[in-house]
Amino acid sequence: MSSWLDRRATPLLLGLAAGLIAVAAGWLAGGDAAERAGLAARWTARAGLPLFLVAFLASTLVHRWPSPISRALLRRRRQWGLGFALAHTIHLVALGINVIVYAPGRTWQSLIGGGLAYVIIYLMALTSTDGWQRRLGLWWRRLHLFGIHYIWFIFTASYAGRAFGADPDKRAVGILFGSIMVAALALRLWPGRRVAG
Ligand code: HEM
Repeated sequence: MSSWLDRRATPLLLGLAAGLIAVAAGWLAGGDAAERAGLAARWTARAGLPLFLVAFLASTLVHRWPSPISRALLRRRRQWGLGFALAHTIHLVALGINVIVYAPGRTWQSLIGGGLAYVIIYLMALTSTDGWQRRLGLWWRRLHLFGIHYIWFIFTASYAGRAFGADPDKRAVGILFGSIMVAALALRLWPGRRVAG
């Protein structure tokens, strides 16, 4: 298991598979084209979440529960971030179709907040090499530390909005995934971490 997780390609393949399966599931479950596009947008966002959480928590997991698996996750943290960027690129395509064709009129706050998150996701992906890390020095760490918390914030804000919304199904999803996001941040920030990240 840990040797499979230690392969560079594993997170990328999982990100691609998760995004494509989410699109296919939305396509099969939706009754008409608009509903299919909506479900694909919703489920592609959800598909990227586990990959984001692995990158977000990799160093915390090694510190709290050191094992061959948690060490393999930390060694491949950049690839987990790239796998998340891949899955979220599929979210971008799905939501582009959804927002432009079927459900225009989103608030400018959500477009700016989500749009900035995409700028940060791609900046982090493009600078995820040792060369860029050396070149940017302290700014690399600032970008990646700010970026990972900003993406956490957008996920959490999206689910918090659903948790307090009127639709009971979306409310349940918002409470479940919003709680997971808050628990992940608490685990990451809880005192006693020794491994930087
Ligand atoms: C301008 C950029 C973005 C737009 C226009 C957008 C649009 C959408 C749309 C149309 C949905 C489906 C809504 C529904 O049917 O309930 C959705 C769901 C979602 N999006 Fe995005 N999105 C953007 C960026 C992002 C980013 C960057 C993140 C995370 C970092 C994100 C996280 C989510 C989450 C968590 C959901 C709900 C998934 C679920 O129900 O489990 N979105 N978004």
